[in-house]
Amino acid sequence: MATREVLSHEMKPGSVDLIMTSPPFGLVRKKDYGNADAHEYLGWFRPFADTFKRVLKENGSLVIDIGGAWIPGQPTRSLYHFKLLIMLCEEYGFHLAQEFYWWNPAKLPTPAEWVTVRRIRVKDAINCVWWLSPTPWPRAENRRVLQPYSESMRDLLRNGYKPMKRPSGHDISEKFGIDNGAAIPPNLIALAHTESNGQYLRYCKELGIKAHPARYPAELPEYFIRMLTDPGDLVVDPFGGSCVTGEVCERLGRKWVCIDLVEKYLQGAVGRFKKAPRAPKRMEEVQGDHEESGYYKAYRPGLTWNGVREASLAVDGGKKRPPLNAVAAKAQPVKTSRPRAAQMDLWGRAS
Ligand SMILES: C[S@@+](CC[C@H](N)C(=O)[O-])C[C@H]1O[C@@H](n2cnc3c(N)ncnc32)[C@H](O)[C@@H]1O
Repeated sequence: MATREVLSHEMKPGSVDLIMTSPPFGLVRKKDYGNADAHEYLGWFRPFADTFKRVLKENGSLVIDIGGAWIPGQPTRSLYHFKLLIMLCEEYGFHLAQEFYWWNPAKLPTPAEWVTVRRIRVKDAINCVWWLSPTPWPRAENRRVLQPYSESMRDLLRNGYKPMKRPSGHDISEKFGIDNGAAIPPNLIALAHTESNGQYLRYCKELGIKAHPARYPAELPEYFIRMLTDPGDLVVDPFGGSCVTGEVCERLGRKWVCIDLVEKYLQGAVGRFKKAPRAPKRMEEVQGDHEESGYYKAYRPGLTWNGVREASLAVDGGKKRPPLNAVAAKAQPVKTSRPRAAQMDLWGRAS
């Protein structure tokens, strides 16, 4: 049964605490399960928006993970996901509680034509995550998603902090120097998507089921499920795919419903529940284990700039494709006054 039927006929109005989902994106390059084109996206989404509004509790939340898209044939971006956000707020009365950005450092540099061949755009490594609610006051608690202090904050806590007024006018009181055990995270979620041999994939392989081609990493729904629901609350993923959301809910003691149009995805999802769920990591475990727990480095812009005069920019903005030998000639390693920062691989990872 598809999402709209389940939400309209099987669920009571005002019964859901959180809708946590990643819908099909308005992509140019289609996935197996079919995606609406970016320009038809709002029309496709409207009936879902109606049912989401109907089943959500007044103080519940709707969290949508959505990737951007390129306009076919030209190096510019579609606005469809921003239009979706505006439609949900202006037509359906949702409030934007906060926008998040999921940075996936492992994203490949695509579309190759603009990013690696003509070199006129940079890698698109961000998904938007819209956190919406029927009310401006959805239930939420940021203490559930704290993160370890950075090295510089730990230094500051060790060495003491002198209260002062910042040039921006913000008065930083001595409370800033109090050790609260952990830091309040920003609305940037850094999470490399690299799962290659988990229990789900092994199960799909054993049964000869094709794994879902667009899963999100469990840490993404986990963040919002922890922050926005209590144990025993009901979480729905209307575009459930391989049921990552359900697996996380099971582990965290939330009730859950995952719906998907494609039965084989749900057959594969069964593998997620074949063995006892792993226990969540505790903060102390994560504190001593920075490499493993995933601190990602984001370099300050300009680190590889060495002040050498560059060739002039193409006046046509790269519209005329350069001949292949010119592309190869330009693909020399960057010489920089700071050699370490230049040691980056194709994915922008520093070695
Ligand atoms: C981006 S995927 C979700 C992946 C999921 N978050 C995961 O990690 O496995 C979107 C899913 O929406 C499903 N879908 C598309 N249209 C649907 C509909 N009308 N009702 C239910 N599911 C639908 C697709 O089959 C696909 O599995």
